[in-house]
Amino acid sequence: MKKIENTDITIRNVGEEVELYGWVLKIRNLGGLLFVDLRDRSGIIQLVFHPDFDDYEKASSLKSEYVIHVKGTVCKREVANKNLKTGEIEVVVHHLDLINTSKEIPFALTEDTTALEETRLKYRYLDLRRKSISDKLILRHKIMMATRNYFDQNGFIEIETPILCKSTPEGARDYLVPSRVNKGSFYALPQSPQIFKQLLMVGGMEKYFQIAKCFRDEDLRADRQPEFTQIDMEMSFVDEEDVMQITEGLIERIFKEVKNIELSLPLRRMKYDDAVRDYGSDKPDLRFAMKIEDITEIFKNTEFGVFKNVLETDGVINCLVVKDKADRYSRKDLDKLTDYVKTYKAKGLAYLKMADEVTGSIAKVVREDELQALKEKLQLENNDLVLIVADSYKVTKTSLGALRLKLGHDLDLIAKETYQLLWVTDFPSFEYSEEEQRYVSCHHPFTMPKDEDVDKLLTDKAHCYSKAYDLVINGYEAGGGSIRIHDQEVQEKMFKALELTEEQIASKFGFFVEALKYGAPPHGGLALGLDRLTMLLSGTDNIKDVIAFPKTSSAADLMSECPNAIDPYQLEELGLQLK
Ligand code: AMO
Repeated sequence: MKKIENTDITIRNVGEEVELYGWVLKIRNLGGLLFVDLRDRSGIIQLVFHPDFDDYEKASSLKSEYVIHVKGTVCKREVANKNLKTGEIEVVVHHLDLINTSKEIPFALTEDTTALEETRLKYRYLDLRRKSISDKLILRHKIMMATRNYFDQNGFIEIETPILCKSTPEGARDYLVPSRVNKGSFYALPQSPQIFKQLLMVGGMEKYFQIAKCFRDEDLRADRQPEFTQIDMEMSFVDEEDVMQITEGLIERIFKEVKNIELSLPLRRMKYDDAVRDYGSDKPDLRFAMKIEDITEIFKNTEFGVFKNVLETDGVINCLVVKDKADRYSRKDLDKLTDYVKTYKAKGLAYLKMADEVTGSIAKVVREDELQALKEKLQLENNDLVLIVADSYKVTKTSLGALRLKLGHDLDLIAKETYQLLWVTDFPSFEYSEEEQRYVSCHHPFTMPKDEDVDKLLTDKAHCYSKAYDLVINGYEAGGGSIRIHDQEVQEKMFKALELTEEQIASKFGFFVEALKYGAPPHGGLALGLDRLTMLLSGTDNIKDVIAFPKTSSAADLMSECPNAIDPYQLEELGLQLK
């Protein structure tokens, strides 16, 4: 049987006989004439049953989500429905088969459904029947096809790597799988194919890619899932430029094929330090301006106690300027913004409202010369609002970066349907973990430091930078990668810098360090988050929308009710006992 798609039928087919299969979306009885919206994956077409139709009774018993087969004649509609692709025509039915009935559905499968997300996830197979969800899966498929074709045409080989792996820490917590055969031992599910793809380079594969499932047991957010998919790649005999160039080619192809958008290449680049300085983030959303301004200098002789204290402890004073909106912010609104920056550890938020007579929380303590300097530096005009944080560098940048995004959304400053892509480069090799009270890898421990920083790995960790790069799209980290360490001495130095003991190195990555001793080629790569890329291209900010069977924010599958308790005999077989 060759099924034609509903939306293949157009005005050009008027007068023709067609045979259709699908689900009943809606049925209406208008004075004896029955109108049925028939849905298939492609879309909706209107069926008409006349009162003199032989099987009229069967037709009038149809209900939502019944599965039917019809034969009929394509006719021009009297009044076209502009919202439907098939809106100019309808099919007058002369044969109807009822293939299957359906229980009453738990929520309406309309595009504007108000059903709770929990209900939609519990009946995900029904939700998939909604076009706004199925379209996203089709878009995801197109991205995957464009990816496979692109890499194939550029000499890359798709190679699968294991799912049952050795646990090697990469930042997040591992999902563990107990071994039945080797009781007391565990596999880990891969957080990414990182080590394997490097071993493929040692194995001489030169250009690898994979659309790879990754698993991370971490706190979930709107753009994170415990299992997600990466477009993963690795190349030998390359530097940063080569990896960025091949990635740009892929992104260009995907945007063109999936959205018909021409990107202008090469993409913009920004160093990590500059991104944090200007946007308070390593993934700046460049769809709107509003940079963070440094006004520390202006207040260097301030007598205002709060600022003075901050400056004495090497802190900074920075601000955001909201143009021409001061009158829109009440005291209460500003208190809310203050509470908001406090969630990012800022101690407070000072503000000035520009007018002939300046008002605001610090209007009385800012001297005339300071005000003049602010006006000049920030080109302030009446009705501008200046929002100021004075704190440590890190807290100031992080809190104002978050506030900038909030203002961007609240004030509708973000241009819709636009894409702002950039590379963020020159990441620090290490970041200080307050939790662990030591320096940890900013990317992963296999990231090559900048040539000039290799000697500083053990002595000046705060000023070591790496050959790492992230692809940022509209404020999301869409991908990240680096040039890897192929030299065993540098790798050992890096492990030492991360304060891993010989035993830890041997037990965690012994096999990998060993591999580097057998002529490892220089290599580097990158991974794009397929789910995030699909989210961005399909215009949703909920990652669940682009995954066929997603998990909730508490990592559960509501449909199959997993995770779940298991039979005691299964535990017994694994040699495990629950505490
Ligand atoms: P990284 O950890 O940056 O790099 O991951 C690469 C990209 O994967 C996406 N991503 C996620 N998407 C959804 N849910 C998650 N929990 C999640 N975590 C990450 C992001 C991210 O940019 N092995 C390295 C890559 C390399 O160096 O080649 C890695 O995994 O879009």
